[in-house]
Amino acid sequence: MCGIVGYLGKGNTLDILMESLKRLEYRGYDSAGIAVFHKGRIEIRRCQGKIWDLECSLKGERLDGHLGIGHTRWATHGRPSEENAHPHKSGKVAVVHNGIIENYVTLKEVLIKEGRHFRSETDSEIIAHLIDKFIEEGLSFEEAVRKAMKKVKGSYALAILYEGAPDTLIAVRKESPLIVGIGKDECFVASDIPAILKYTRNMIFLEDEDIAVLSPRGVKITDLEGKKITRQPKEIQWDPVLAEKGGYKHFMLKEIHEQPRAVTDTIRGRISLNKGELFLEDIQLSAKTLKALKRIVIVACGTSWHAALIGKFILEELCRIPVEVDLGSEFRYRDPIMNKDTLLMLISQSGETADTLAALREGKKKQVKSLSICNVVDSSLARGSDGIIYTRAGPEIGVASTKAFTTQLIALYLFSLYLAQVQGKIKKEGIKELLKELVKLPRLMEEVLAGDHEIERIAKKYVNCRDFLYLARSINYPIALEGALKLKEISYIHAEGYPAGEMKHGPIALIDEDMPVMVLFTRDKTCEKVLGNIEEVKARSGKLIVVTTEKDKEVLRKADDIISIPKTNPLLTPAVFVIPLQLFAYHMAVLRGTDIDQPRNLAKSVTVE
Ligand code: F6R
Repeated sequence: MCGIVGYLGKGNTLDILMESLKRLEYRGYDSAGIAVFHKGRIEIRRCQGKIWDLECSLKGERLDGHLGIGHTRWATHGRPSEENAHPHKSGKVAVVHNGIIENYVTLKEVLIKEGRHFRSETDSEIIAHLIDKFIEEGLSFEEAVRKAMKKVKGSYALAILYEGAPDTLIAVRKESPLIVGIGKDECFVASDIPAILKYTRNMIFLEDEDIAVLSPRGVKITDLEGKKITRQPKEIQWDPVLAEKGGYKHFMLKEIHEQPRAVTDTIRGRISLNKGELFLEDIQLSAKTLKALKRIVIVACGTSWHAALIGKFILEELCRIPVEVDLGSEFRYRDPIMNKDTLLMLISQSGETADTLAALREGKKKQVKSLSICNVVDSSLARGSDGIIYTRAGPEIGVASTKAFTTQLIALYLFSLYLAQVQGKIKKEGIKELLKELVKLPRLMEEVLAGDHEIERIAKKYVNCRDFLYLARSINYPIALEGALKLKEISYIHAEGYPAGEMKHGPIALIDEDMPVMVLFTRDKTCEKVLGNIEEVKARSGKLIVVTTEKDKEVLRKADDIISIPKTNPLLTPAVFVIPLQLFAYHMAVLRGTDIDQPRNLAKSVTVE
């Protein structure tokens, strides 16, 4: 969950490292550090805190080497502190690491017995010691890295410097993402695309156990045995401007406002409105495979799991195929039942979430076909799946997921229609009707965004509340979960999302005059029941905020506050309902003065279990 970077070239190494690290800060931000070759020596600067703190601690210091590495940390082993911040150095070797070394305790014991002195509590430091030890024993830098990688168990993305090789940077990965960027007379290493997008669009995505040796002679990639591997660079189409704040105070707010554009991009080229057809051939699953499907299992984590829960409603309604949804962290531990008629779907913004990737591996073990919905091009998930539908949200930098979520819903909608089309479950006229609604969605989202000031006003009223309950039913109940998750992760207010029908089975005990309840109300087959819930909240003096597509007088009279949203097809309603909830969480967080783009204890890509 940490971010690592590396640079080799004639540019200003320090500036490039700092700039790249700032774009990776969403991956972790409790400490940061850099190592730069300066006058033939590796100079390390680290501190507890954010990149900004590191910048301040450097106080304009000039380190003018042409080679360096950097790190922004999300603590796993050892509390956030300067000693535990990366880079870690042993002898002449400096290392930055993202991942977890599972056998570090055993390795550390051996190294200590051999007389090595450890300065940090981290698992990462053993890597520097191992490489340094093997170099001292006579191996070359590259051989030492290879030998060390054979000793460690776990996940890693590493950038390594050695004082004896002042023009070489070695990068290695296993189960943690790592990219090599190729520029003109310069090259880069980074955990993620946005970090180096400003400098180059040509990127090589390293595979597990690739060792990349970067030097002025170019980039050489080998496996752990030293066998040469050819990996072609890919040209990344993302616009670098998307990774900037563009006048917004926070990335999260910018990304909320980008949703109409992101949805339009995700639909573009994939539908014909006139013909009532979908073109998702790029998913790379044959019509034969899709026709034979009898069951779908969707696995994801966090916000992506909420999208999966909505996907179940859409797929079952349009395709009449049973769908099961599971959490990545649970899935592989219960020996899930899957056979050749099952499709395993995985949903992930980053494509690097450890538990979702583990679910993909579980699917491969059971030989089922996999299809991923993913935002990050060529991420581990995208490369490992049989089929892929890219959401075209562009880089999502705010830790709280917003535009990735709504585009996941669109991808699920498109895939459901496509599958229904392939399986002959829907007529062209039916597809036309549903597509007509889909293309109107960006405009409806704009309408909701235009009402932001009203949501801000409501947030001001509730800013001092300590708890929140979110209620909804049917396809919108995962939006209650998502609204509650958004509120707790960025404003640190305790919030629970519930399917409204469950209220009587427990949460009703919480309701009193201090407990605001956000109810999502739309006229569907459960609306009479939700009206009942509204009455129950009022009867217990609960404060009621109603988000609604309706002008229903009865509801409006009961509500303390109302957020009106436009009507759409019921299958698309979640994509509209979620926007006021994102804005509400955002304003609550602004009013409470929290760190919105980098909330405490969180990281954007959860690349460890
Ligand atoms: C919440 C949030 C997380 C992610 C989760 C999965 O706002 O962003 O809950 O949704 O960590 O991440 P991805 O989608 O990258 O697999």
